[in-house]
Amino acid sequence: MQDMTDFAPFQQRRNRLVEKMKHGIAVIPTAPEVARNADTHYDYRHDSHFHYLTGFAEPEAVLVLIAGDRMESILFCREKNPEREVWDGFRYGPDGASEKFGFDAAYPIAQLDEKLAELLGNQPALFYPVGADASWDASLLKLREAVKAKSRSGIRAPSEIRDVRELLDEMRLLKDGFEQDIMRRAAAISCGAHRRAMCFTRPGQFEYEVEAELLHEFCRHGARQPAYTSIVAGGANACTLHYVGNDARLNDGDLLLIDAGCELDSYASDITRTFPVNGKFSPAQKDVYEIVLAAQAAAISAARPGNLWVAPHDAALRVLAQGFIDLKLCQGSVESVLESESYKQFYMHRTGHWLGMDVHDVGEYKIGDQWRPLQVGMTLTVEPGCYIRPSDSVPKALWNIGIRIEDDVLITAKGNEVLTQDAPKTVKEIEEVMRHE
Ligand code: GLY
Ligand code: MN
Ligand code: MN
Repeated sequence: MQDMTDFAPFQQRRNRLVEKMKHGIAVIPTAPEVARNADTHYDYRHDSHFHYLTGFAEPEAVLVLIAGDRMESILFCREKNPEREVWDGFRYGPDGASEKFGFDAAYPIAQLDEKLAELLGNQPALFYPVGADASWDASLLKLREAVKAKSRSGIRAPSEIRDVRELLDEMRLLKDGFEQDIMRRAAAISCGAHRRAMCFTRPGQFEYEVEAELLHEFCRHGARQPAYTSIVAGGANACTLHYVGNDARLNDGDLLLIDAGCELDSYASDITRTFPVNGKFSPAQKDVYEIVLAAQAAAISAARPGNLWVAPHDAALRVLAQGFIDLKLCQGSVESVLESESYKQFYMHRTGHWLGMDVHDVGEYKIGDQWRPLQVGMTLTVEPGCYIRPSDSVPKALWNIGIRIEDDVLITAKGNEVLTQDAPKTVKEIEEVMRHE
């Protein structure tokens, strides 16, 4: 994680959260480090909510916000430790963090319980990620009991407990300009990686060789991690939706489905492209591909402000249903295929999800029991597909064709912006890239 030289966006978010809380105290911890084995840890990834409000990437840190007449932001973090810093690297320490990230105050993490016991006193409400971590539930409830025990000296404990994620999830759903800019850059790096994979791929390689090209391209642009485990699925493997084995040989005549995106500065990108291992679509592959591409175009057109969340999915389904009938995969009319859901044999997932700091980002899809309308600043994926497993009822020429096409879409006042449009997508573009570059 790079240094934050400008903490204004994070401070603005803290102020907005405090306004939404109206009164009370919020306690938002970052993620714990997780041991892999012996004294080795998994790559550290901060908690997204915590990072959204702080920009602070060190483990062992907690943000406390106080709302009401007195507004305050307080960070608890690791102390400076010259000896540990020789081994593990730089730590800001409370004073450095306070100055660099714009908190009103900062204290050593070791003082958390003692200070929290004071800070909880006379606060009407306690906001935290309720139920996200059993040990936090237990320690905050215990601290609240300790405050309650002081009632004879006139100090009251918070009577209300609220899940702070109800407020934060809705804030994160609408991306501000700072976030949009990072997501554009993440998307551009991932587009380059898909292009690189297309240029590199040849029959006889292993899926992991192509995966290595993706990771190389992410990393050399400063996106040190993928946003999720890359799917590099040749031939029939593409019909396994969450295939991550990535260790099979790529056959001449097969398609290769790649679902891969980098994480940059805490934001995900999420792209799928499907292309022929040998650089040329067969007639059957092309027939299916054009249907999925048309479904995606219809879905992207439906991704605009005011349309319901489900509109892109519905638009994609209509095109896919007609295509499946034309290919003799489904029988009957579009209406009957949609009604009976017979399309689900070949298209069993939904057409997208919110995208942001998490690849499957936070935010409700329904308000009450109604799909929510799309709004400017929301970011979603549009990812229809078609997965044809061998079956007696399916024309043999289509067996083991698995195709998904996925882009990242920002809802704008004019409609939308496809953040990932530079990843080659039409049959012509793909065949050209694979021939010339
Ligand atoms: N790569 C995860 C997804 O497409 O949902
Ligand atoms: Mn996705
Ligand atoms: Mn994906």
